[in-house]
Amino acid sequence: MSHIAYVNGRYLPQAQAFVHIEDRGYQFGDAVYEVTCIWNGRPVDHAGHLQRLRRSLSELRIAMPMSEAAFSAIIREVVRRNRVKKGTVYIQVGRGVSPRNHPFPVKHIRPSVVITAKHGAGPSEAVAQAGVKVAVQPDIRWGRVDIKTVGLLPNALAKQAAVEAKAFEALLVREDGTVTEASASNAWLVTKDKAIITHPATNKILSGITRATVMKLAKQAGYTVQERAFTLDEVYAAKEFFLTGTTTFVMPVVQVGDRPVANGSPGETALRLRQMYIDYVNGLGDEAWSSAVQSP
Ligand code: PDD
Repeated sequence: MSHIAYVNGRYLPQAQAFVHIEDRGYQFGDAVYEVTCIWNGRPVDHAGHLQRLRRSLSELRIAMPMSEAAFSAIIREVVRRNRVKKGTVYIQVGRGVSPRNHPFPVKHIRPSVVITAKHGAGPSEAVAQAGVKVAVQPDIRWGRVDIKTVGLLPNALAKQAAVEAKAFEALLVREDGTVTEASASNAWLVTKDKAIITHPATNKILSGITRATVMKLAKQAGYTVQERAFTLDEVYAAKEFFLTGTTTFVMPVVQVGDRPVANGSPGETALRLRQMYIDYVNGLGDEAWSSAVQSP
């Protein structure tokens, strides 16, 4: 079965789905995106992803190309046509097509919209139960990584370095020693006195939708959660370390660079939060398609 993509109003087999060579997303990275997990045929935190898409577009002064209801309908159709039960949906919206010139086109142009779906959600449970290694990489990204733009070259380079180091992810560290997040996931540590710490949602990280859900679940379960920057030294001294993200869920980290985290086995907090998150996604019903913001 060939994959079907939605491209600017049409559903096309992926082999026939193209964008224009003067698309500003292609030339300037002038586009934003979302990745949503599809679990049991339903989107996880759909409303949150649409809300973040709206915010990213507004930061770049690109108009929402359609209503949230229209987005929901198209995403649902792409999921249906590709028969995705467990997988991901990719949504990209860019400023549009115009002769190459740095400033925004003077004339109104139609935003480019591409929506695709892929089978396969998250790493296997066995990987999570064993825990993963992360590589340490410098955070060389621009100052607005809170906007989910397609300008992911520093993330791609960091992830490639991780792959070459046989690591699951790349942890991004600023020159001042603070850990921001990982190349495609948010980073969390658990202190010796069991406080859960993650970087605040500033312009230095992408405010993860999974991060928000995990934070709510953790608080509901009575954990103390603090949003503050932490250093690589604090990670080395942590009781636990873990990652969260759409394609990661909650992932215990057992090794950072060449150093084990605590005793080198997955932490109980991370495993418990992972289970709580899986229970949450398993509990999603058809209302998950609604774009009204819901809390878990
Ligand atoms: N990335 N930080 C970065 C830099 C990310 O790219 C992502 C997600 C996250 C986690 O955000 P969320 O929980 O909303 O998925 C954090 C997606 C999966 C990607 O680029 O493929």
